[in-house]
Order: sequence, then structure tokens, then C-alpha cells
Amino acid sequence: MAILFDKQTSRWLLQGKNVSYGLGVDKNGTLQHLYFGSKLPFVSDLPDVNTAIYHSSFEPSGGITQPEYPAWGGMYYYEPCLKATFSDHVRDTRLVYKEHQITENEQVDELVIVLQDTVYPLFVHLHYRLFPEHDVIERYAVIENTGTTPITLEQALSGSWHTPRGDRYRLTHLGGKWIEETQIYQDEITPGKKTLESRRGNTGAQANPWFAIDRGTADEDQGEVWFGALGWSGNWKITVEYNPFKLLQVSGGIHDFDFAWHLEGGKSFQTPAFVGGYTRLGFGQASRNFHDYQRNHVLPKPIAEQVRPVLYNSWEATYFDVTEQGQMALAERAAAIGVELFVVDDGWFGERHHDRAGLGDWTVNPVKFPNGLKPLIDKVESLGMRFGIWVEPEMVNPDSDLYRKNPDWIYHFPNRPRTESRNQCVLNVSKPEVQEFIFKMLDDLLSENNIDFIKWDMNRSFSEPGWPDAPQAIQKEIWVRHVQGLYDILARLRAKHPKVAFESCSGGGARIDLGIMRLTDEVWTSDNTEPYERLFIQEGYSLAYNAQTMMCWVADSAKWVKNRPAPVAYRFHSSMMGSLGIGGNLTQWSEEELAESTQLIEEYKSIRHIVQKGNQYRLLSPRKGNTTAVQYVTHDQSESVLFALMHPQKFQNPSPRIYLRGLKSDSLYKVTDIEEPISGSALMNRGIDVNLHADLASKLLKIREVK
Ligand code: DGJ
Repeated sequence: MAILFDKQTSRWLLQGKNVSYGLGVDKNGTLQHLYFGSKLPFVSDLPDVNTAIYHSSFEPSGGITQPEYPAWGGMYYYEPCLKATFSDHVRDTRLVYKEHQITENEQVDELVIVLQDTVYPLFVHLHYRLFPEHDVIERYAVIENTGTTPITLEQALSGSWHTPRGDRYRLTHLGGKWIEETQIYQDEITPGKKTLESRRGNTGAQANPWFAIDRGTADEDQGEVWFGALGWSGNWKITVEYNPFKLLQVSGGIHDFDFAWHLEGGKSFQTPAFVGGYTRLGFGQASRNFHDYQRNHVLPKPIAEQVRPVLYNSWEATYFDVTEQGQMALAERAAAIGVELFVVDDGWFGERHHDRAGLGDWTVNPVKFPNGLKPLIDKVESLGMRFGIWVEPEMVNPDSDLYRKNPDWIYHFPNRPRTESRNQCVLNVSKPEVQEFIFKMLDDLLSENNIDFIKWDMNRSFSEPGWPDAPQAIQKEIWVRHVQGLYDILARLRAKHPKVAFESCSGGGARIDLGIMRLTDEVWTSDNTEPYERLFIQEGYSLAYNAQTMMCWVADSAKWVKNRPAPVAYRFHSSMMGSLGIGGNLTQWSEEELAESTQLIEEYKSIRHIVQKGNQYRLLSPRKGNTTAVQYVTHDQSESVLFALMHPQKFQNPSPRIYLRGLKSDSLYKVTDIEEPISGSALMNRGIDVNLHADLASKLLKIREVK
């Protein structure tokens, strides 16, 4: 049994493979966090639940504790999970324990603890889904109004994670901007509050909803790490709050900014999942546990169980100048080098000759494709590839038939400008008729054409988030309803077209989170396709998310980002660390470049099961030194692959010795370039030299157990 309950002391113990999570009800009936750390065998090992810190009349009268799901009420001053206003205008909530339920399933055990307000008909069902194999817990809350009058929720977070009372905690988080996504930041945590957030309507590139906390000294291989991520693709916040009593709390969920949810009597509101984990084995193990959890329990099956195909995308080759002939020429080249999935990007529909017109008019442009998409799809299939296409369904250009017909289908306020960005506005996906329009458009596209892959883009954030024709009480719900609508459309499309895979894109990596990953199969990591800069983006991505979902293109040296020509092998090695794509203009690649690409794609196909499904080890970070090294190992430890890439550097220093990880110490391994088989122990402890010297030199080493 992975979830234990001790009735006498009202304490629960959730047991992962290596971790335990403890909760208890205190003498006031408040649910308290007790423990999240290495495994404890018995419920009696948990700390006592009545251990509040008493200080002064300025602090909570019940003492300072670690409430598991704090509501705003009484003398509670830290970040609440719940803030509500009742219909009689009372704005004070007191949650006490009511009951619980434990259900055991094959892969996931679930604990539901029900809290209730002491007076009002407000219930909170706290769900804990424990994945013992991965030492990961999914948490979400269902807030229920069993009365007859509405309750307004002004804050409804998914939950709070706590660490033991302690000093010198450090926060690791991911942030950046367009073409600089998922950069790693590490800050010492001092008293006060730090909020990671998006108030943009989409997940955002400025911050990613993932965090890790350590005691300031963890590295890739050792040290306690608490980590977590939110499964939500709209406004979100993660608040890291360290109080003067050295208690640290990380609260997360849908952002309370401009938020109000009108909870009618008899209705419930479900928060997104806030997923958390713990390990003593550093950031490396934290990532590996989380990657496995995502592959096994987040990504849609059965597609998640397969390897991702090698993809070609037309964007950087043709931009909006998409024609049947041009795409056929690219398809021929792509097939010849080994591409498996050919994707036509933006520009195939309406009057979409540039980004100023056509968005919203999802009919095939008759000049570019005189006979529809069929001839191109037939051609792609005859070349042995599958076909994919780009869409941006939540957006509209004012210069489009859709906008001319339905000018009020966008978010807007009366008497305010309708701000355009990239010449487009955001469709009001909160409206059922807009959801229906999007679903039908995509359903028709997928029903009428043999399409295996949709790249779903979103190229701007929200502005003027108004919904003037909705009842006033629900107007602020657009932040949530938009995301619910998006998820619902994706779920319906997946159910009806189960073979179609989806890529989440938002002008690069502005919609990367566990919520969208439940409904898509990969994400576009960044528009930055420069292979050296990519190493930084990919390293940050890998802290939180697995390599199978990380789409990486080999482009034309990505001149538009930085004019730094890079060798073909370097461009490939950088992109082979995730799901490989080709994004360059193949009609302009030389015969030699095409030949080398063919060989590299073949090599990728022979190792992609290791990269996409294996354990990942970040051996040398691009943020330090002159070389990046990343290793992947199959779960049975019989196969591994090492990528080593030298950075543009001064003074021609050689790359450092690389110490592998994750192998069996006593087994012999054959390594590319090394004649004699060598033990796992030697590879991990003695290390190997990859002998890189030149700027942008790179190597891929295959490591295979000799039986
Ligand atoms: C932004 C995406 O990130 C690009 O890959 C491309 O699809 C463009 N949008 C198309 O407009």
C-alpha cells in the first residue's frame, strides 16, 4: 500500500519508491503539511502535527504552521491557496478537515482529502495522485459550492509545496524571451516573496511554470531537490515565499490577477495539476524522474510510446511563399535525406502572403494550390513520408473574411483600441461559437485530407481581455475559459482523429507546460535555430521536460539569428539531442551537405530510442567551460550515446575530460573511436577525452555493452 493512514493521530503517509510525503490534521482541524523527503517506513515516523511556532500578537493567532491548502481568513498573512467572497459579502474562509478517501490503482494511488468551511457550504477536495515509480505527486483541488447562492473565488490555486524549516535555500527557475527561452536562473532565497508568472493569457517565454528548490549546494549528482511544475497554459503563478520563521512555501496555480470565478450553487471548479517531486540525488535525478513521469503519465498514448519521426518544416525555407511546386521540390529533397514527416508551415491558406492578412480564413489558397492540398499530400506520401500542416486557430488578422464577418469574436473592450500584434488579434475562445468554429475548421481539414500532424501555433499574447456580451459576473473568467476551450478542442480532435500528432508552438517556446503536454506530442522549443545558442535553451528545457517532446531543427546555419556559420555535423549534433527536425532550404544545400545530412539522419535513427526514451545526464553545461556534453542511457543500461560540442572560444583550449554516468560499473562497453572495450567504471571514473579543439567542433559517441 503506497498511501497509509493513521486514524488515531489523523496523519497520512504517501510512499513513493524513494520518497515519502506526510500530512496531518491539527487540533484545530486544519490540514498541515508534515514532510516531503526521503522515504520513512512508518506513519509514526512523521513529525507531530501540533507544532506551531508562537511568536507575537502580530503573527497568526494559531501559531505559524505549514498549512497544506491555506485559505485567506483569520490571521493568515502568507500566500493563500483560496480566497473567496460569499453571497452575503463575507470574505473570510476557514477550512477544516471533513473526510478522506484512498483508492489504489495499478500505476497510481490516489488520496482525496475533503476540507469544508466551518459555516458556509464550500468544500475543497484535495486530490493527491502518487506515482511511486517516479517519486512524483500530482496535486489538484476541486472547489465545490453545495449551497444555492453563488460564491466568488478570487484566488483558487492548485496547492502549496513546503520544505523543512531551514536556511540558505536556493531557487532554480526558467525564464527568457522569444529566441531565448528556458534559460536557467538560480537565486538564493531570502525572506519575502518571489513570483514566477504569466499574465499574458498564454504560458509565456518570460517564465516557465517549473521550479526547483535546493539547499544551495545540490549539483547534477547529489543534493536534496524539491521540484514542481504546473499543468496550465494560461495565466499562472508560482510564488516562492520564505517567511521570517524560515519556512518556505511554493504555491502555484491559475493566476489570481484579474481573476474571479463565479461559482454557482451546485457547481465545482477544478484547478490544474501542480506536480511535485523530491530526490536526494541532485538536479540530474530530479529531471530523469520527471522525464519518465511525463513519458508514462502525461503525454497522450499510444503516440507517446512511439519514437518521434524525423520532421521537415518549410518555414525558414519559404516563409509565406508557399506553393505546390516549391513544396514538392522541398519534399523530394527531404525524402532523399531520410525525412519521415513533411510539414508545410504558415502561408498555405486564404490571402496569407505575409503576416498582415488571411489568418482566420482556413481555406486552401487556390493560386498556391490550384487543386487543393491533395496533389502535394499524394506526392509526399509517394515519397514515403507522412504529411503535416501548420495552423494558428486562436488568432485572426483584421484583414480577413473571418474578422469582417465576426468583428466581435475577438477579446475587446468598448471605447478601447483593439491592439494588434503581428497584425493579429486573439479570438475569444471563451465563446462557445468560436470554439465550435475552430473545432469544425480543424475537423474538416483533418477529415478531408490525409494529415498526420498539426503544428498549432499562437503568435501573440492577450490584450484588452474583454467579453462585453457575456454576463458581467463571468467576464473575468476569459483567462480560464480560453484555456479550457483550447484543451477541449484538442481533446475532441484527438478523440476523433487518433492518429494525428500535435505540436504545441507559440512563436517558438511560449506554450511549453504540462497542461498542453497532456494534449500534444511535442513542442516547438524556440524559433532560435542557431545551434550553439540552442545548447543553452535545450539545457534549460531538459531540466524540466523530456527530450522526446523537444523539437529541434537543423537550419541553414540560422543566419537570421546570428551570422555564425556552423559545420553540418555541429548543427545536427545540437539538434539530435531531442526530436530531430530539418528546417533549412534544402534546395540550396550542396550535394556534400545533403550527403552528410543523409548519413547523420541515418545515424540519428539508430540512436533516437536512446535519446528520446533514455535517461539523460547533463555532463558539461554550456554555461561553464568550453564544451557542452550530454549523455543518454537506455533504462537497461546497455546502450548509451554521448554528444560533445565545443563552443566558440578563445585560446584554443582542449575540451575537458568527460566522465560518463548511468552505466553498469562491471560491464564492458564498446565506444566509437576506442578500440578496446572498456568497463562502465572506467568510463564513469577515469573518464574519456573527446579531443575537441576547434570552435564548433563536435562528436557523437555511441556506447554499447559487450555481452
Ligand atoms: C512562429 C513559429 O515559431 C515559426 O516556427 C513559424 O511557424 C511561424 N510562427 C509562422 O508564422
